[in-house]
Amino acid sequence: MNILKVADCYNVYIDNSFEGFYDVLKANINENTKIFIVTDSCVHKKYEALFIEFANTLNASLCVFNHGEDNKSIDTISFIYNHLLENEADKNSVIIAIGGGVVGDMAAFAAATFMRGIKFINVPTTLVSQVDSCIGGKSGYNYRGIKNIIGCFYNPKLVYISTHFLKTLSKEHLLEGFGEIIKYGVIMDKNILDFLNNNSSGLFSFEDSIYLSIIKECLKIKAEVIAQDYNDKAFRNILNFGHTTAHAIEAESGYTIPHGIAVALGILTALKLSEKLLKLESDVYKNAIKLYTKLGLPTSYKVDNYEAFLYAIKHDKKNNDKINFVLLENLNKCRIKVEVKEDDILWALKNSITMEVFNK
Ligand SMILES: NC(=O)c1ccc[n+]([C@@H]2O[C@H](COP(=O)([O-])OP(=O)(O)OC[C@H]3O[C@@H](n4cnc5c(N)ncnc54)[C@H](O)[C@@H]3O)[C@@H](O)[C@H]2O)c1
Repeated sequence: MNILKVADCYNVYIDNSFEGFYDVLKANINENTKIFIVTDSCVHKKYEALFIEFANTLNASLCVFNHGEDNKSIDTISFIYNHLLENEADKNSVIIAIGGGVVGDMAAFAAATFMRGIKFINVPTTLVSQVDSCIGGKSGYNYRGIKNIIGCFYNPKLVYISTHFLKTLSKEHLLEGFGEIIKYGVIMDKNILDFLNNNSSGLFSFEDSIYLSIIKECLKIKAEVIAQDYNDKAFRNILNFGHTTAHAIEAESGYTIPHGIAVALGILTALKLSEKLLKLESDVYKNAIKLYTKLGLPTSYKVDNYEAFLYAIKHDKKNNDKINFVLLENLNKCRIKVEVKEDDILWALKNSITMEVFNK
């Protein structure tokens, strides 16, 4: 088992099985702690036997909400609070999130706010959540159509990653993780891009060693970044590369385009903007397109409503009155808070992800 320490604060255990989890749990919580497992309907269905074993072995209470980004809402938060109250959670209780980024973000927010904070453990089960959302402390939910507009920072007591969970992901869900992985390759470590290029077949045959290595590398980068700027005041913004457009794609599509795919598309637009505004060499974009094609990631998106799209960009929580983007000067050299005009965004969209649509 690999152990990564995040900001001297908590451990991330990374393994290809789930066997070590009980020992890790035992070492980290007291015997009499009430355990609340929070998951979504899809993960619950896929891993019913595991949840039954959990409930029996740990005497845990199970809280299952409907899966999907449109349930990342205040109603679901209420649902979790009600479950905690009805099952007599107390200040010493622990919430264990087992699921993707939606479960992790929501369970963390519920843990952060219930009785002013109870313990939280994260067991991420999607590639997006294993390479990215499980560390960094960001929690929250969407409100009035705006992504993650309500939330807070709250660290888990520990994170337990098992690549075993990835085997039940569909190809589409796997692809969603590639968006965030490519982001790390673009902003910080081009070796990740080479690794993806050289191991594309192993990725789809779920080779554990490939995933263990990618997860470790991505989390190491994220841990280094958040160690320098946990509260996302400046440097941590680089992790949002591609995300401003991504959030707009998610919102404009009514959340039918999943986060990771939206990030992958957002990266392409950010690369084009970088070419225009920071003179990024065009090979970076061209190589990205080649990699996307090899992996089967989409390279185009049809914007139906540009007004709604720009509205979402302007109201992205990371922007003030100005529209700021994280852009790239060179591969692995980011510049944060680059002010971008609406016309530049439209130009970049029309010369990247919406290009095919325009040329039809
Ligand atoms: N907190 C952060 O720093 C951070 C970072 C990145 C993304 N996010 C958030 O994470 C969310 C996206 O995460 P996601 O892509 O994991 O989405 P998700 O949690 O919605 O999971 C995608 C789908 O996969 C299902 N699923 C989960 N695990 C599975 C498994 N092992 N096998 C089969 N199906 C499984 C889920 O039920 C869901 O239907 C977004 O809301 C995004 O805002 C947060």
